[in-house]
Amino acid sequence: MSVINQTNRLFGMLKKGFFPRMILLGPLQNYLKTLDKKDCFIVASKTVLEAKKEMLKAGLEFEDEDVFTFQGEPTNIILEDCMTAYSKKTYSFIFAIGGGSVIDLAKALKSKTSSELVVVPTTPGTGSEVTTFAIITDENNVKQVLNGEELMPDAVILDKTFLMSLPKETLGVMIFDILGHAMEARVSKFSNPFSDNFAEQAIRIIMRGLGNAVLDKEEYLEQIQIAGVLAGSAQGIAYTGLAHGFAHQIGPVLKIGHAKAVSIFLKDVMELNIANSEAGKKIKKGWIDNLDKIYSLFGLEKVQLKLENKDELAEKIQKDICTRTNPFRPTPDQILEILNKHEI
Ligand SMILES: [Fe+2]
Repeated sequence: MSVINQTNRLFGMLKKGFFPRMILLGPLQNYLKTLDKKDCFIVASKTVLEAKKEMLKAGLEFEDEDVFTFQGEPTNIILEDCMTAYSKKTYSFIFAIGGGSVIDLAKALKSKTSSELVVVPTTPGTGSEVTTFAIITDENNVKQVLNGEELMPDAVILDKTFLMSLPKETLGVMIFDILGHAMEARVSKFSNPFSDNFAEQAIRIIMRGLGNAVLDKEEYLEQIQIAGVLAGSAQGIAYTGLAHGFAHQIGPVLKIGHAKAVSIFLKDVMELNIANSEAGKKIKKGWIDNLDKIYSLFGLEKVQLKLENKDELAEKIQKDICTRTNPFRPTPDQILEILNKHEI
């Protein structure tokens, strides 16, 4: 625990950054061999656990009762069940392997147990592995953001082989989520020199890969993971903006995944920011052009939305917590104009 008081209102104004203690890049099994203690509590997605159980058994010590798996997004109830399972024994550390939901749940567990947490992300876009927040849905179906230094994972292992089985379209929308974190952090009201540099570099890595047409190569998958970490760090410091406001409000209503929802709105939001804010000038035209290129390279389909109560929805998007750090406050009419473009 830091001596710097994060609950002090002055803390919010500091130019600060949060990082895991270590980030390791390479095959997971190599790092598992270096562990001093192997007994751990595992939080995992069912599919990853089934596919990788043998590999994990070779490097970690665990029985079936030491593993917590779940599906969907983490809720208060799932967190309670997870804590109950964890509290039956004493473990040397928590090991999480899966996508953003799995990592969020493990981070929430860590914050309540003060155990060390090692995470292995199996998707590249969420950035959850390098932020101090976790999203847990409460009993009223409202997404609550837990935030605090105690949620930061201690070690992150990035193994590109987990990305090799992702369908091309999934990878494409995850790239959009990475770019969403980076571009929105770049123009955010909370941006600072740390987030600016992480964001710029994340965008460059993604764009460079597109230009070199290395999309099918393993090397690009590793680059995407690195860009995801950099963009996640930028987001962790500067937060996001209106495109994430759209994704938060539209995603659950129309059952559209987070990354896909970001991919629908990112270009429109960036063009709106460029036209309406000084910060928008930090977004280069080439970056916007490349958003279209990603759509075609990864075979992403344009989605037409069936929308109801659009006025109410626009108001919710305007008031969304992510929209608060957008470089300017959009009007409901500006939000409606974007919604109309994507309506059936
Ligand atoms: Fe996101």
